[in-house]
Amino acid sequence: MIRVNDLRRSFGDLRAVDGLSLSIQKGEIYALVGPDGAGKTTTLRLLCGALQPDSGHIHLAGIDLQRQTEQARALIGYLPQRFSLYAELTVLENLRFFAEVRGLPAEEWHPRSSEILDFVGLGEFADRRAGLLSGGMKQKLGLAAALVHHPKILLLDEPTGGVDPVTRQNFWQLIIRLLRQDVAVLISTPYMDEASRCHRVGFLQYGRLLIEGAPSEIVSRLEGRVLELVGTPRRLLKQIASDDPQVQNAHSFGDRLHLRIAAGSAETVMRRLGSAIAAQAGSIERLRPVKPGLEDVFLDLLESAHAA
Ligand SMILES: Nc1ncnc2c1ncn2[C@@H]1O[C@H](COP(=O)(O)OP(=O)(O)O)[C@@H](O)[C@H]1O
Ligand SMILES: [Mg+2]
Repeated sequence: MIRVNDLRRSFGDLRAVDGLSLSIQKGEIYALVGPDGAGKTTTLRLLCGALQPDSGHIHLAGIDLQRQTEQARALIGYLPQRFSLYAELTVLENLRFFAEVRGLPAEEWHPRSSEILDFVGLGEFADRRAGLLSGGMKQKLGLAAALVHHPKILLLDEPTGGVDPVTRQNFWQLIIRLLRQDVAVLISTPYMDEASRCHRVGFLQYGRLLIEGAPSEIVSRLEGRVLELVGTPRRLLKQIASDDPQVQNAHSFGDRLHLRIAAGSAETVMRRLGSAIAAQAGSIERLRPVKPGLEDVFLDLLESAHAA
């Protein structure tokens, strides 16, 4: 449904998207993750035709976006990172506006609006002024607007930013229902737990994909190379771990430390840390190998990219 070949777009000297290729199937959800400024929003704007590429090709359901722009754009629903709605208009009026922009005839937009508002769980708020909606409700209205014309491709730019956990969960339920209807979804997200729910993940930095694959494939790179360390005092533990020759890095995740270690060194490192920490009167609550998460891999990639 989405096929991107060697896409490039610069702003002055800055290469925001720098040779990006990817493809996404029907019913597939692909997460674009990466630090701020990595080029996620630029990629999505190129894909929906809001921005012209310097070079490269975009095909949507086989249609060339540059050559048959209108046909290609008709397939897309796009929820921008900063979605703007009309605060003075009601939820329904906002949706009507987006339906008209999308060229839905009057006799179609009304039934479609009720259907889509029910779908996103805003049915009972149709007459509420949009300016009075909570953050999560605004995002749902944004999603409704993006879906009003039955798109086959959905582009979502950090749709759950600033949204409470319950609403996030709802949002995901909606996405899963869309996937069952064979919609192809490209979502950018800063949340690794969201990325790990997607079929595939691409990690973007400086407009380039550093790695791409199923979450399970991606984490298998660090299999056996992550130790979890919990104890006190935290700073001492981190210091001792960082000084160990086979610990490549120590990152804090909440109250835990994740140590990235050399392959095959888990037993040795655990023994050595155990005695070093005890010798300095620190205490260990937990020290064990754990399954790596996407963040472990991404931190690793960022550091290797930095060191290179
Ligand atoms: N319209 C623009 N003009 C100039 N620079 C831009 C513009 N849009 C994005 N950029 C720059 O391109 C880079 C990528 O931005 P963006 O795609 O928004 O990243 P992300 O969404 O991953 O945070 C950033 O350095 C940003 O400042
Ligand atoms: Mg962005």
